[in-house]
Parts: sequence; C-alpha cells; structure tokens
Amino acid sequence: MAGGRNYARVVGVILTLTVVAGQNIPEVGLFSFGDSYYEVGNKRFLTTAFLPQTTWPFGKSTDDPNGRFSDGRIVPDFIAQFMKIPIPVPAALDPNGNFSRGANFAVADASVLGSPPESMTLAQQLNRFRRMGNWNDDFLSKSLFIFYIGADDYLNFTKNNPAADASAQQAFVTSVISKLRQDLGLFYVNGARKFAFQLLAPLGCFPIVRQDYNTGDQCYEKLNDLAKQHNDKIGPMLDALAKENKGFQYTVFNFYDAMSRRINRNLNFRFSNVINSCCGIGTHNAFGCGKPNVHSSLCDYQRSFLFFDGRHNSEKANEAIAHLFFSADPNVVSPMNLRELIVYPANMNMLESYQPKNSVSVVAVGEESVSEF
Ligand SMILES: *[C@@H]1O[C@H](CO)[C@@H](O)[C@H](O)[C@H]1NC(C)=O
Ligand SMILES: *[C@@H]1O[C@H](CO)[C@@H](O)[C@H](O)[C@H]1NC(C)=O
Repeated sequence: MAGGRNYARVVGVILTLTVVAGQNIPEVGLFSFGDSYYEVGNKRFLTTAFLPQTTWPFGKSTDDPNGRFSDGRIVPDFIAQFMKIPIPVPAALDPNGNFSRGANFAVADASVLGSPPESMTLAQQLNRFRRMGNWNDDFLSKSLFIFYIGADDYLNFTKNNPAADASAQQAFVTSVISKLRQDLGLFYVNGARKFAFQLLAPLGCFPIVRQDYNTGDQCYEKLNDLAKQHNDKIGPMLDALAKENKGFQYTVFNFYDAMSRRINRNLNFRFSNVINSCCGIGTHNAFGCGKPNVHSSLCDYQRSFLFFDGRHNSEKANEAIAHLFFSADPNVVSPMNLRELIVYPANMNMLESYQPKNSVSVVAVGEESVSEF
C-alpha cells in the first residue's frame, strides 16, 4: 500500500535525521564546482601567467596565499571542516592532491556558457571529474556536490551588452539555465546524487561593480535583477531533475538574501564596511588587489569587511555563510541544510521540495527587518 510505504519512509527519514543529529557526520566526500568564489588553486595548473591570488595580501589571515580569492579560508574549506574531513580537499588539478575525501574543480573565470581558454566551464569541470574516476559509485552517491556558478556569465553578458532590454536578459537567463540543467543531468549520470546550490550573490552590489558602473552607494540593479531571475529558476530546475531521476537529491542556499541582509543591516552582522573592498584601489577600493604595478591599499582589519577584494568575501564572511549553508533553517536553505542532506538516505527520492521565498532587496538602512532565523 502506497500510503503505508510513504509513512514508513517518513519515519525512516525522521529516525535517520534524529539519530545522526547528535552523532558524527558519515565519512563521505566533498566535490566542489564553480568559479573563483570556490576556487582553491586550480588556476595555477592552467596558466603560467602571474596570479595575484597566489601572493600577499591574499591569504593574509592564514599567512598563506595559495590561490584562494580571500584573506583566508573560503566556503568549501569551512564545509569540509564541518564535515570533519581531516585533510583540506585539494584542487583537482593538483598532481600531488590526496583525493580520498573528494576534490575541488572550481576555477576563476569559469562560467556555464563559455570560458576563456585558461579556465574550465562547468561542463569541462565535469569532464575532469569523470576522467579522474578515483571514487566508487557508493562513495559518490553519499558525497556532497556543491556548486557556485553563473556569476561570470552575467557579469560578462552585462559588460558585452550594456543596452540589453528585458527580453534579451530573459533569453540569456533561459539559455544559462537550460545549459546548467543539461550539465547537471550528466553529473547524475556520472554518479552524483546529492546536489547543493549556493544561489548567486546580488552581483550588482559587488564593490567592483559599483566602482566600474559608477553607482556610488547604490547597487547596479541590472545585475541584481539578472541574478534574481537566475536564482528564481534554480530551485524549480532542481526539483524537475529530482522528479525525473531516481534518487536525485538537492538543496538550495539563498546566498542572495544572506548577502542582502548583511548589506542592509551591516552592524547587526558586525561588518563596519559592506560597500568597499578591503584590498584594492579606486572609488570602492575594488580593483587590482595583489596585482603588480597597482599600489592597492589594504584595510587595517579585514574581519570588519564583507568583501576582501572587488567581488570575493572576507574569511569572516565566508565562515558565517558556510555555517548558514551547513545548518540554517529552511527559510535560508531549502528544503534542507547540508547537514541534513548528508545524512539523507542515499539513492532515495526526497519527500520535500524547494519552497521559494520572497527575496530580500538591498534597501537603505532601517527600512527592512527580516531576521535570519
Ligand atoms: C589521504 O588522506 C587520508 C585522510 O582522508 C589519509 O588517511 C591518507 O593517509 C592520506 N593518503 C596519503 C597518501 O597521504
Ligand atoms: C565573455 O564574452 C565573450 C564575448 O561574447 C566570450 O567570447 C567569452 O567566452 C565570454 N566569457 C565568459 C566567461 O563567459
């Protein structure tokens, strides 16, 4: 009887979640895909050019510039730590990497639709993953696959098409989403089962965007709008994939709103500066951090900045963001957080689906009061 079986499954899931809540996280892997926001050093193996992110002041907080675009650790590093993975999950292209607990395929300039030659599109990252083949199906089905991709598609589109109207924008979002959906179908075919998406940031609020488009204290709404349109389609797209593919599990972390809340009410989140970068030059101190021949300035205390360089978060922000992704409530990460996704029985269809929320706009301070929890 279908009703009875569903009931048994619900009880099974609740039991599993309850039992594991107080226990160790199972020994599974972490596979990260995306752009510079998730990169842990793959670019070093794709180019001989000088890379600012491999020199000071990147890595300043850990005294270790190593290809990450931050003053220290980034979101996948914290997630691996929360999963109790005993070693840092290495860059997939690192010939000396220990891939026993997963690999990181993200690389700067990656996009969904087309990347410069010294990068990898999401589809090319998938090909790398497939060719490595270090992991068996059981391990893969229990491992987390986290994604942050698309920002470069929209930043590039907006730069190349400054006059794009609403219908051109919609058409572009549709093309990104449909390629993404096709790529994710291939991830499934190659063994991935647990998909976790970090939605795009309010791209128009990046210090480098405010600086390049001269918007002062305002965000560049055209880019925020593209990010919102894209983000609105991610949950339904994953939901459709879950309905088509047995055992496809997913969750969506509303990073857009998490950032908007910090930008709107910065002091509640202990950031004294959410508009400028800690490191760089220009009106928003947003360009050229770490570049030779750029006399970039560096803030005194990077932990009070939301952004370390023109478009990447400080380690302090990354830690808070990773905590939300890993353990926040469904109003922040839906239908479940990473902790729950990890222990959700592998190869089982999910019982719940993504619930969209009205998104938080970036507004003047004091006009808005949504609490995180
Ligand atoms: C790789 O890392 C694992 C921990 O995940 C460790 O047990 C193993 O010894 C490491 N292998 C090598 C060759 O260092
Ligand atoms: C950016 O746009 C150019 C021109 O349309 C294209 O050749 C390039 O591949 C794009 N880059 C990314 C990262 O999408």
